[in-house]
Amino acid sequence: MADKYQNEFGGFAEKPKVPKKFYDLKYILLGLVIFFGLVFSPILPNLGKIVAAPSPNLDTPAILKLAKKDRQCVMPTPYMRTYHMQLLIDWREAAIRHGNREFISPTGKKFVANLSDTCMGCHSNKSKFCDQCHNFAAVTPNCWGCHLDKEQKVAKGGAK
Ligand code: HEC
Ligand code: HEC
Ligand code: HEC
Repeated sequence: MADKYQNEFGGFAEKPKVPKKFYDLKYILLGLVIFFGLVFSPILPNLGKIVAAPSPNLDTPAILKLAKKDRQCVMPTPYMRTYHMQLLIDWREAAIRHGNREFISPTGKKFVANLSDTCMGCHSNKSKFCDQCHNFAAVTPNCWGCHLDKEQKVAKGGAK
């Protein structure tokens, strides 16, 4: 009796036995495989890959020409690593707005505040130096549409 529906008038028909069936299972599974395949497809090619840390190259003629103890940047390396973009803006500000193109480093060395000649004079290997880090960090300074580096003789139209 327990499996029969009842009310005050008596019993209803027996509870119908509906077969437990998963309709269209293969289409559903196929759909799920395609769905998750698409969702994860952007990640799969890079799974488990490690992008090597950039190694900016310092072997340029201008730097190799310096005596070992003079192989230094215009500011100490940790400062340059962190603040070179700010220093460049400061140089631009000083040179263009205030007409002061002389930069004296903490060690007392004099430099001309100039991107193409001073920075790129020593770092003449832009693609192996600046670009190494910038590609890694996905930054594209737009300076090279106007300023030349030592690797390109004509300014590029676009960014980078
Ligand atoms: C639209 C063109 C243009 C772009 C882009 C540009 N500059 Fe300049 N920049 C100039 C011009 C023109 C001067 C003036 C040159 C002079 O009088 O010596 C200048 C001067 C400078 C100077 C001082 C002197 C010199 O020639 O180096 C610095 C430093 C400088 N820019 C840095 C930068 C940096 C860093 C960027 C990228 C973030 C940049 N500029 C992007 C056009 C540009
Ligand atoms: C006299 C040559 C010279 C000039 C000019 C120069 N650099 Fe350097 N730079 C060096 C040397 C040498 C080092 C590496 C110092 C060391 O071994 O610690 C360096 C290091 C750096 C680093 C750090 C690299 C790293 O491995 O972390 C950055 C960033 C940098 N320079 C950017 C610049 C910029 C931007 C300018 C212009 C404002 C500039 N440099 C001007 C010679 C120079
Ligand atoms: C040690 C790694 C490293 C080296 C070498 C390096 N950069 Fe950078 N640079 C960075 C990083 C990281 C940023 C982005 C910082 C941020 O967005 O806060 C950056 C940002 C900049 C910016 C500002 C870009 C913007 O759109 O705001 C300029 C300009 C720049 N770098 C110029 C140079 C030049 C010129 C050289 C070569 C002489 C150079 N950098 C070498 C790591 C490096």
